[in-house]
Amino acid sequence: MPLLKNLIRSDELLVETVDIKHRFYASSAEPLTHKELIAMANNNGDQHLVDLYNDHSLGYAENGGSLDLRQEIAKLYGAKITADNIVVFPGAQTGMTLTTQTVLDKSDHSIIVTPSYQSLEEGVIIAGGGFTRVALSPDNDWNLELDAVEAAIQYNTKYIVLNDPHNPSGALMNTEDKRALIALAEKNNLQILSDEVYRLLELDPSDRSASMAEMSKNAIALGTMAKPYGAGGMCIGWVVCQDKDFIKNLLKTQHIYAVCFSRAGEIQAMMALRSSDDIIKRNMDIIKDNLILLDEFFAEYSDLFEWVYPKAGGTGFAKFKGPLTGDQLAAELQENEILVFGPSIFDCEEGLGQYIRIGFSRRTMPAALEAFKEFVDQRRAEWKL
Ligand SMILES: Cc1ncc(COP(=O)(O)O)c(C=O)c1O
Repeated sequence: MPLLKNLIRSDELLVETVDIKHRFYASSAEPLTHKELIAMANNNGDQHLVDLYNDHSLGYAENGGSLDLRQEIAKLYGAKITADNIVVFPGAQTGMTLTTQTVLDKSDHSIIVTPSYQSLEEGVIIAGGGFTRVALSPDNDWNLELDAVEAAIQYNTKYIVLNDPHNPSGALMNTEDKRALIALAEKNNLQILSDEVYRLLELDPSDRSASMAEMSKNAIALGTMAKPYGAGGMCIGWVVCQDKDFIKNLLKTQHIYAVCFSRAGEIQAMMALRSSDDIIKRNMDIIKDNLILLDEFFAEYSDLFEWVYPKAGGTGFAKFKGPLTGDQLAAELQENEILVFGPSIFDCEEGLGQYIRIGFSRRTMPAALEAFKEFVDQRRAEWKL
């Protein structure tokens, strides 16, 4: 029963509820409060949205997402994407799983780029298709190797699943590599699921390339309010695709599995999207300040840890050079009230057993880093390093 495998592994949604002092794992940006959001909307001249929020009906929101929200989301993309190319879900995770259900038949083969957010792979397993993993490697700065993707293509391959910007490593694809992957997909009649939930969190905004969904009809992209806006509580994610036939089929799947979501969340999402620049600036300032501290840490503790400096998102994947695996280290840290993720959280190959994911998107990270350092200093002698 594939679902059980998913449930016994902790993920971010589960651990948000765990009572632990230092959350050194978090990937989503610093959450806003509703009060802060309302203040932003008022400052932004969006009083009509505040009124809409106060007066909205508690009935079902429109299946697929209300038009006003889809129009606002479309502004995040180029001219090829309109409201009709977007389907809203109660979070990107539901969008990803139901996209995979819509695309795949049991006889289809998929290529999954790893390490990966577990639901990306589990979605393929649940849909019943076979798959081949293509592993990213720190030796190549976690960049996708196109030759490896090409080598994994089989006669029945239909789907390539990847996440960019990448959780856990913070890697980011450039336009050239995206174009090459799209050319390969188009040549072989494959669909790409491009999980872009960390988009807008690029350290250098000039590194942000177009969404894969803008670049090709063969690509389906995912977005969310949870990661860049720190607003997982809105329960708003979306799927974007130029192919209207796919959108029609996805809406049918949604009708069966995820028809009900919140108009309150939709209106909150519109407020946040209309204050996007301010919110993203606030969140990037937190991330950049935290990265200065982490940079110092990795320089000072280079005998014990190394990482590839991230380009986007709220997480990095760090190698522990000591005598424990990443999972063992994570378990010991948890006993000491510090939460990081070991590699078994991500569907990844054995070679990454020494890695842990750390998160640097929250205001609480400096305190978590101090606790982490204290733990490491205490153990150093025992590790004989
Ligand atoms: C790569 C990736 N995709 C999707 C999601 C899920 O997004 P949402 O919270 O909108 O369901 C996450 C959450 O951790 C993620 O890391």
